[in-house]
Amino acid sequence: MQILGIETSCDETSIAIVDGNRKILFHKTLSQDSKYGGIVPEVASRKHLENIKLILQELVGLCDLSTIDAIAVTAGPGLIGSLMVGVVCAKAIASVLKKPIIAVNHLAGHALTIQLIEEVQYPFLTLLVSGGNTQFLIVKDVDNYTKIGETLDDALGEAFDKVARMLGFGYPGGAIIERRANFGDENKYVLAKPMINSPNCNFSFSGLKTDVARKIQSLQPLDEQKICDLCASFQKSVTDVLAKKILLAFEKFALETGKACNDFVLCGGVSANQYIRNKLIDLCRLHNVRFLSSPLSLCGDNAAMIALVGVEKFKKGLIDNINFAPRAQWPL
Ligand code: KG4
Repeated sequence: MQILGIETSCDETSIAIVDGNRKILFHKTLSQDSKYGGIVPEVASRKHLENIKLILQELVGLCDLSTIDAIAVTAGPGLIGSLMVGVVCAKAIASVLKKPIIAVNHLAGHALTIQLIEEVQYPFLTLLVSGGNTQFLIVKDVDNYTKIGETLDDALGEAFDKVARMLGFGYPGGAIIERRANFGDENKYVLAKPMINSPNCNFSFSGLKTDVARKIQSLQPLDEQKICDLCASFQKSVTDVLAKKILLAFEKFALETGKACNDFVLCGGVSANQYIRNKLIDLCRLHNVRFLSSPLSLCGDNAAMIALVGVEKFKKGLIDNINFAPRAQWPL
């Protein structure tokens, strides 16, 4: 079995082929440079139109698409114009080749990415931390998820990007903050840890962002060392909150499933952060939980994860009517 996957939910244009054994046979992602300090939806959609053609031309030169069993495409959630490019392209390929089409939820892609690398038994606990989402999910099957907590305002990646912008870094800023933090003192500044003591698995990051803005004001003029210390202190604050909430999520997982949590999966773009990973690896070790996370190349938006969900859905006979519409909002 071979499934073609297409991902265009935000600003990455990506196409992949994954086989029935979850092996990636082809994978190419083109990212967009942002000169605007963030994503401009119309610009992103236009760039997808250029990039998707480039990747498809390369793919068609390498293999015969008629051997594909089905086409899986991100149908949401995401920017509607960006989604439209991938969905229309997938529908065109499906119509011409007379192949089934599978509408994939982008969040399911992130949640299941780990299966491209490791065998993980259902149910498992995942924390999805990306530019658009921050949520705890109990993953029970490819089409069965229970959300047990989420951010009430900004996503964690969004908080990283907003703090990066305040410090004058480019977009996306998460990785830049991490690099600067490596040279900073994480205990230099005490920053807010919103909702750290609330008895649930929800988050809020907008207050922390405001706290960083105030700190930046009070530290003027900023020098390189102050910037690195701020980055390290910010990273520590969010990681302390994540760690506390993960302990609550372990308990909620046990209540919901009737068994102890054996596997914890960190996924989404922010999971590329090595500081966060290391802290959570230690936490999981302490609680006898296996910590899992994807290689950096699969942390961000990519089509291999969409093709993978396609493989798993196809195995269960879960294909869609070609009339489906992309959805800007689509909770799992
Ligand atoms: O999953 P992703 O590629 O896109 C969404 O679906 O949102 O995640 C992108 C987010 C951005 O906010 C980016 O700043 C953040 O992931 N990110 C990081 C790191 N690398 C990417 N955040 C913190 N540390 C990193 N090393």
